[in-house]
Amino acid sequence: MNDSNGIGRRRFLSNSAALIAGGSVLARTALSYGRTLGANDRISLCHIGIGNRGKELDWIVGQLRTSHNVEMTAICDLWRLKRDKAVAANEKYYGRAPRALRNVEEALAAKDIDAVLISTPEHSHSPILKMAAGAGLDAYVEKPMGNVLSEAKAARDAVIQNKRIVQVGTQHRSEPHPRAAQELVQTGVLGDVSKVEIVWNYHGPRWRGREETKLIREADTDWRRWLLTKPYRPFDPQVYCEFRLYKEFSSGIPDQWMSHAIDLVHWFMNDSFPRSAVSNGGVYAWHDGRENADTFQTLLEYPKGFLVSYSTSFGNDSPGFTRYMGKKATMVNIGGEGSPRYQLVEEKGNHEQDADIDQSRPSKYVLPPGETNVPPMGIDDMTLGHMANWFECMRSRQQPHCTVQDGYAHSVACMMSAEAYWSGKKQYWDAKNETILDHPPA
Ligand SMILES: NC(=O)c1ccc[n+]([C@@H]2O[C@H](COP(=O)([O-])OP(=O)(O)OC[C@H]3O[C@@H](n4cnc5c(N)ncnc54)[C@H](O)[C@@H]3O)[C@@H](O)[C@H]2O)c1
Repeated sequence: MNDSNGIGRRRFLSNSAALIAGGSVLARTALSYGRTLGANDRISLCHIGIGNRGKELDWIVGQLRTSHNVEMTAICDLWRLKRDKAVAANEKYYGRAPRALRNVEEALAAKDIDAVLISTPEHSHSPILKMAAGAGLDAYVEKPMGNVLSEAKAARDAVIQNKRIVQVGTQHRSEPHPRAAQELVQTGVLGDVSKVEIVWNYHGPRWRGREETKLIREADTDWRRWLLTKPYRPFDPQVYCEFRLYKEFSSGIPDQWMSHAIDLVHWFMNDSFPRSAVSNGGVYAWHDGRENADTFQTLLEYPKGFLVSYSTSFGNDSPGFTRYMGKKATMVNIGGEGSPRYQLVEEKGNHEQDADIDQSRPSKYVLPPGETNVPPMGIDDMTLGHMANWFECMRSRQQPHCTVQDGYAHSVACMMSAEAYWSGKKQYWDAKNETILDHPPA
């Protein structure tokens, strides 16, 4: 994209290796700081990491190409197969093929890119986000924003210092039903909330058996670059494609599912960093070589004075729910991740006085304006609102629905829960020093 005065927007990288190492090596034009995209400027995007989620994000962006005047100008993936597929998909959406890049540095150095989407595996979210922010690019980064505290912090700092507009990929924040529920909670209708309970289940060897493990060949990708900040280990197709099961790259249930859940709790409760976390779990259902738990439960305490229990089992698909339990009412989100069905139930009487009290507790569905139907109990990951919100914020330079601070906070909660599980020790958040400790901060 060109600035209205005709000067190219992009900045110059002098040394990409130094970027990964954390150096500030950019001689950026003052212009790109604080610059506002004109209403008629097309936003030029590059998508980094176009696997399963990436394919979905490409489709979402494609749906918004006209309404939001955007184009996927380049795609970047280490794996040749994924590059070829992404080029073909985006050519269909835009009528011309995007440039195919292999290495992140090429994407960050391209002068015609305004922003990047990052949907690589989670161990590389924060390092790549930091590089992108340092290069002056806005970013949409998948959740969790990070899973190594120092890396997540560095990415957040880079985004803030460089005044970048970053949307973190917890898309339920931009869906109408959670937005209506969040607004209702802000009115105080629940009274004092002392506990939030979340149960999201699934029956099956989740994240094992991906088709891609049979397709990937080391010669078709760059294993060392995939590892990024991790020590070298021999190429392993399962780690490459099923990274969610391997401790060094993902915490599994916390990174994948709890990040969505706890992100909503932080937003609803307006309290973003747990005071402490304890966890338990194990591999009980699927003995298939996975390192990460298939059955996991964590209990977090928050400074405002409430507990959050988060629980997932992959060995049984009993119905999911989230309950915000207040003295005046309960907000029940009926269903698992992203369910639009929210119900407000008045906290009237108790079970000791009347075993059937549930039947006489007034309840109502929480509906967005203009909606009258009972909401469904599930939703896919293809809603457009979150991406649209990011594009709108790139133009207005306002903060999007899931800011880098929000992403940092959900990452901290997931890291604390994962560490409590692995160490067997209660973890504490030292807010002053932004550190996770295994003893209460002084
Ligand atoms: N928001 C949601 O609802 C949602 C849903 C699914 C997945 N996700 C997130 O998306 C992320 C990706 O998951 P996935 O299933 O698509 O993974 P995937 O393995 O299918 O895709 C990752 C792609 O990134 C590429 N890649 C890895 N490192 C790279 C690098 N340094 N540079 C360039 N390309 C690189 C790989 O070659 C691969 O094609 C996960 O972190 C997950 O949490 C979010």
